[in-house]
Amino acid sequence: MSTQSLAVSCQNLVKTYDTGGQKVTALSGIDLEIAMGELMMLVGPSGCGKTTLISVIAGILDQDEGSCRVFDEDLLHMNSRKKLDFRAHNIGFVFQAFNLLPSLSAAENVSIPLIINGMKRGEAEKKACKVLEQVGLGTRITSMPSQLSGGQQQRVAIARALVHSPRLIVCDEPTSALDHETGHTVMSLLKEVALNKDRALVIVTHDARIFNFADRIAEMDDGHVVNVRDSLPFTTH
Ligand SMILES: Nc1ncnc2c1ncn2[C@@H]1O[C@H](COP(=O)(O)OP(=O)(O)O)[C@@H](O)[C@H]1O
Ligand SMILES: [Mg+2]
Repeated sequence: MSTQSLAVSCQNLVKTYDTGGQKVTALSGIDLEIAMGELMMLVGPSGCGKTTLISVIAGILDQDEGSCRVFDEDLLHMNSRKKLDFRAHNIGFVFQAFNLLPSLSAAENVSIPLIINGMKRGEAEKKACKVLEQVGLGTRITSMPSQLSGGQQQRVAIARALVHSPRLIVCDEPTSALDHETGHTVMSLLKEVALNKDRALVIVTHDARIFNFADRIAEMDDGHVVNVRDSLPFTTH
């Protein structure tokens, strides 16, 4: 595949954590390519390196070895200001623990990426409300995170990752707190994003109910990608 048609290209990624003298190798030489317009799911047992891999891809964590290019840019060698700017424009991240700011309402949380990108507050909140409606939270825009259920907080986190129309969306278990129907709604919304050939999605999941939204599924084990396969044909039940 030519580099122009790739959203993400990882080569021989290695990452070791060193906690007080104890070393844990989380990534042991990962090669993975994600095409523009592709929805890639990452699956594998707990501790196999999924969160570490998407953190490197999103520029949240630096690898020890190997290269990771996102839209043909090398985040590791960018200065911190350029990297912040690149991430703010191009990447939406849904954390496993949602990471909402507790003192801000749903609409204010979702506005953050737009405000970082220079949009005026009023306009940003208007846009945030639209995306909150799309994830089924139109009536909860003024609610604080503590007033929302886990599933509702998760949808606020997803709205925040989508609001600035980033070219790459990275999600860690985005349907873990959602019932079947809401999970389906959220995945349809994410899938729609991946239909745009300038965009791509990487989704870590254990949720077999959503596997058929993937274009390809990469299976990880013990710091390696052990298999990449096409998803099963899409069905609606
Ligand atoms: N911040 C950290 N410090 C030390 N070890 C870590 C840290 N984050 C992850 N690990 C270890 O790295 C390995 C991969 O973790 P992770 O990427 O979170 O896996 P997964 O998301 O697949 O459950 C695990 O053995 C985990 O314990
Ligand atoms: Mg994880």
